Amino acid sequence: MARIRTAVFPVAGRGTRFLPATKASPKEMLPIVDKPLIQYAVEEALEAGAERLVFVTGSSKRAIEDHFDTDAELERQLAESGKHDLLALVRHIVPPTATCIFVRQGVPLGLGHAVLCAKQAVGDEPFFVHLADDLIYSEVGCLKQMSQHFEKYGTSVLGVETVPQDQTGSYGIVAVEPDGKGAMRVTRIVEKPKPADAPSNLAVVGRYILTPRIFAKLERTQRGAGGEIQLTDGIAALMADEPVHVLPFSGVRYDCGSKIGYLRATVEYGLRHPELGASFRAYLQNVWER
Ligand code: UTP
Repeated sequence: MARIRTAVFPVAGRGTRFLPATKASPKEMLPIVDKPLIQYAVEEALEAGAERLVFVTGSSKRAIEDHFDTDAELERQLAESGKHDLLALVRHIVPPTATCIFVRQGVPLGLGHAVLCAKQAVGDEPFFVHLADDLIYSEVGCLKQMSQHFEKYGTSVLGVETVPQDQTGSYGIVAVEPDGKGAMRVTRIVEKPKPADAPSNLAVVGRYILTPRIFAKLERTQRGAGGEIQLTDGIAALMADEPVHVLPFSGVRYDCGSKIGYLRATVEYGLRHPELGASFRAYLQNVWER
């Protein structure tokens, strides 16, 4: 089975839930402790073997291009002031073996449309899609777990987790059945169903492996829920031609597209941080006892 070498990062959404923070700066540049969300995303994709990193950008996303570009002036300043650790840190944000490609989604018509904008850059190969605002903490990265599944079965794979029934309206929800070969196959997928209409409470989170046939499906996908071209609807069309699997990955997910999820991630990554963890824990205990 061919190894997946391309990862697509749709970063063209407006991030309205984080206004005014996201007025001039992308949501994906929000830091969790000391790293922007998009850098966690890239590290997870690199761990899974990706070498071509395709960012689908929109307005106010220049900061993402700058983050992954060389900053000669900053490097010179760090070198001159002897800050060699920091110099290594900024120089190795992306390894020299990886290529960054930026494509533009002129108007944010939806996630399905954003993925379609990456068609030329991806070519005729299976690829990862990673939504940086779903941050997943796990021993083995979520995309790596999914690529191991792909190597075994060769199908599209959706990262899924169980959500409370009253939250189905925030996700793509799937019904699944065993495929008889040890995997679970999607039988139905619905975008943001009301709890009463949801086929299950198994939600698709921001991790996908898709075969290139998805592009032909997305080209024919009409605007759906919320007036947007939904990736979910493209996947529903793909299922008519080929099996689509789910992987209930192991790990903890933080919905950093919502303020509460972002705060949870900040606290928990702060507690896990090798330098700050102990003092942050002591600080939180102190706040709690006040
Ligand atoms: P969201 O549903 O979180 O939308 O998009 P959003 O616009 O980013 O945020 P809110 O809801 O206004 O606060 C899920 C992912 O899809 C990308 C977003 O950047 C995010 O990673 N996306 C969404 C696009 O790239 N283009 C779009 O047209 C829509």
